[in-house]
Amino acid sequence: MRYLVLFLIAFLIITSKIFPQNNFTYIGVDQCVMCHKTEKQGSQLSIWKNSKHSKAYETLKTEKANQIAKEKGFTTPAVETSECLKCHATGYNLDKAMLGNKFKIEDGVQCETCHGPGSAYKDMKIMKDRALAIKNGLIVHEEKEKFCIDCHNAESPTYTGFEFEESWEKIKHYVPKN
Ligand code: HEC
Ligand code: HEC
Ligand code: HEC
Ligand code: HEC
Repeated sequence: MRYLVLFLIAFLIITSKIFPQNNFTYIGVDQCVMCHKTEKQGSQLSIWKNSKHSKAYETLKTEKANQIAKEKGFTTPAVETSECLKCHATGYNLDKAMLGNKFKIEDGVQCETCHGPGSAYKDMKIMKDRALAIKNGLIVHEEKEKFCIDCHNAESPTYTGFEFEESWEKIKHYVPKN
């Protein structure tokens, strides 16, 4: 009996790795910020809006971006080039079924780019329970710097280095403790 239980657990772990639960969908910034907007909540909306992350997709529409893409040998405009979009936007490469109808690619590097698709964790009851939220697709970052470097690295054509502390100061958006 004990072996059967162990076997079943191993089976579940293995299959969950092979077939990850990928049915979470991206719902868009508007659907997050109803609860993450006020000063008391931590002003996540305005901090993000005022950061360059919210403009990262728009940046790809500029002349400068097209010039960079051309120099890199791409024949498509930057905003249609997946090698640029991969760090500047979320959702460009996903099936429509994975994008909620309020999701906007124009929002560039948005809440769910960093925190995971929110369709299943966005409900208050789940959000309030960190472990449950994580089970439902929320991504938290124990090692923030490592995570930033996924995009802030020399693969970025305009990269001149990355100072983690200074950069995090510019975009941190904590929930006030009281
Ligand atoms: C119905 C309200 C509500 C919605 C909608 C909502 N949240 Fe939350 N969220 C909360 C609450 C409440 C907490 C717990 C805050 C606290 O620490 O007191 C929370 C916590 C979080 C945390 C911190 C988790 C941790 O413990 O480190 C993140 C990250 C987060 N939300 C991101 C999002 C994102 C991204 C979306 C949109 C996909 C979203 N939330 C939508 C209410 C909401
Ligand atoms: C999904 C990719 C991605 C991740 C992950 C990411 N960034 Fe960015 N970040 C960008 C892009 C793209 C830009 C440039 C946007 C633009 O200028 O249009 C940027 C710009 C910035 C800027 C503005 C740059 C400047 O010169 O002022 C800061 C600050 C920043 N990021 C901080 C961070 C921090 C801190 C983290 C980790 C917690 C992080 N980023 C994670 C893609 C990312
Ligand atoms: C590995 C991730 C990554 C890739 C791939 C990437 N970028 Fe960026 N991009 C960033 C980050 C991070 C920043 C902000 C800091 C920096 O310049 O490194 C940025 C900034 C920019 C800026 C603003 C620079 C400025 O100072 O005005 C432009 C324009 C840009 N990228 C265009 C492109 C184009 C065009 C491509 C595709 C050929 C591309 N990026 C591919 C991550 C990336
Ligand atoms: C560039 C990546 C990035 C973007 C964009 C981003 N966050 Fe975060 N967020 C982080 C990181 C890193 C942390 C700190 C570690 C963690 O708890 O995941 C964090 C923490 C949080 C927390 C918990 C704060 C606390 O006190 O523990 C909340 C709530 C949150 N983010 C909500 C949002 C919302 C809402 C948006 C969109 C308006 C957003 N984030 C956009 C990276 C990001």
